[in-house]
Amino acid sequence: MEQPPSIATPGGPVGVLLPGLGAVATTVVAGVEAVRRGLARPFGSLTQMNTIRLGRRTEERTPLIRELVPLAELDQLVFGAWDPIPDDAYDSAVHAGVLRRGTHLDPIRDFLRTVSPMPAVFDTAYVKRLDGPNRKRGANRMELAEALREDIRRFKAENGCSRAVMIWCGSTEVFTRAGPAHETPESFERAMRDDDPAIAPSMIYAWAAIMEGVPYANGAPNLSADLPALETLARERGVPIAGKDFKTGQTLMKTILAPGLKARMLGVQGWFSTNILGNRDGEVLDDPESFRTKEESKLGVLDYILQPQMYPELYGELYHKVRINYYPPRGDDKEGWDNLDIFGWLGYPMQIKVDFLCRDSILAAPIVLDLALFLDLAGRAGMGGIQEWLSFYFKSPHTPVGLYPEHDLFIQHKKLKNTLRWLAGEEQITHLGREYYE
Ligand SMILES: NC(=O)c1ccc[n+]([C@@H]2O[C@H](COP(=O)([O-])OP(=O)(O)OC[C@H]3O[C@@H](n4cnc5c(N)ncnc54)[C@H](O)[C@@H]3O)[C@@H](O)[C@H]2O)c1
Repeated sequence: MEQPPSIATPGGPVGVLLPGLGAVATTVVAGVEAVRRGLARPFGSLTQMNTIRLGRRTEERTPLIRELVPLAELDQLVFGAWDPIPDDAYDSAVHAGVLRRGTHLDPIRDFLRTVSPMPAVFDTAYVKRLDGPNRKRGANRMELAEALREDIRRFKAENGCSRAVMIWCGSTEVFTRAGPAHETPESFERAMRDDDPAIAPSMIYAWAAIMEGVPYANGAPNLSADLPALETLARERGVPIAGKDFKTGQTLMKTILAPGLKARMLGVQGWFSTNILGNRDGEVLDDPESFRTKEESKLGVLDYILQPQMYPELYGELYHKVRINYYPPRGDDKEGWDNLDIFGWLGYPMQIKVDFLCRDSILAAPIVLDLALFLDLAGRAGMGGIQEWLSFYFKSPHTPVGLYPEHDLFIQHKKLKNTLRWLAGEEQITHLGREYYE
């Protein structure tokens, strides 16, 4: 096996830069501060809570992940953001309505007031249901990108950060496909200078991050760094990138349930998913073009897990439907219903109903924290390009052209942990277990 890289020590402040200071971003910023002040616990975060087994079961070596690999501490994280809406993190968190004011926002109001968004690179052609005055102006996209690079450098200097990571927590942009402008770093840069509308704001952030040596992850389903041009640039410059679309709520449930049904060779005839949500994300997704980007991201999952081409009798006829309904009274408290029509022995039909009263941003926040810490680790280990081992956190894992993504949560989890074992120079765990019976 390839030798593990040497990993630079994680000392000093680390910038966590968030394009988009909405529900998810404020829930992670406020949550990290609440944990730092001992007001709450970081449930849902592997970097903070999960252990990892090493060696044989009989060795009883199960350190915390953060004891195995050198991760930055929460105290080292410094948050920055961009948003066209000028609200600071306190006002934005109150607007989002995810965390309770009395218990989790007001006690840290002084801190949240210090996180104010920098002017964003924003274009209403890409996010149609929102607008705000806090935006950059420039003659072309290259000027906007250079202004972002300047923001990154200034933020790092002002906060004494030798390194930073960037995680897109901005709205879902309208559906687009990669084209000639996105082919190579050269064509991409030319398109920015020509102010080509094919270059979306989220792509400009990704380019600026990579150029500044800042690892980049995309929490939304729009393309962003998932382009040949930016993959090449990230590889050449040794900058980690990962995406797309945080795996929370209904898709998390899907990637937990589907592998189980397939493992038992139970057939699935239909899977109908519908949900209601009333936050700003729901409002943006109410626009059919943004919804299309999300729908593509949500639909791919079952095909990859169930492999209908390999099991046509079990999954060849699967009817999969996903609906998202904007319903303001629920705010961020989403409700997702799934109806599964499945069949077993001799074709006898059965049904499963799931009613998940979930909190989207509560599920997304620990993902953002883990991605920030793992991307910083990958950066220090010199692991440039696509970080498929982080696909555990995403609905549409970013893979190179020609390599299909793994969607099964349990395969993704094993891949993540085996990568951590490899980084720490520990043996891979195969679960063969013959040695216990010798
Ligand atoms: N909450 C979840 O569980 C979840 C899961 C998967 C993906 N996501 C995605 O994460 C993103 C954030 O979700 P949210 O619930 O926080 O949404 P939100 O609407 O509360 O926040 C998004 C913020 O991004 C800002 N924004 C839009 N375009 C921007 C740009 N070009 N530059 C800077 N800021 C920009 C908006 O003004 C808004 O404040 C969305 O794309 C969403 O689809 C969320």
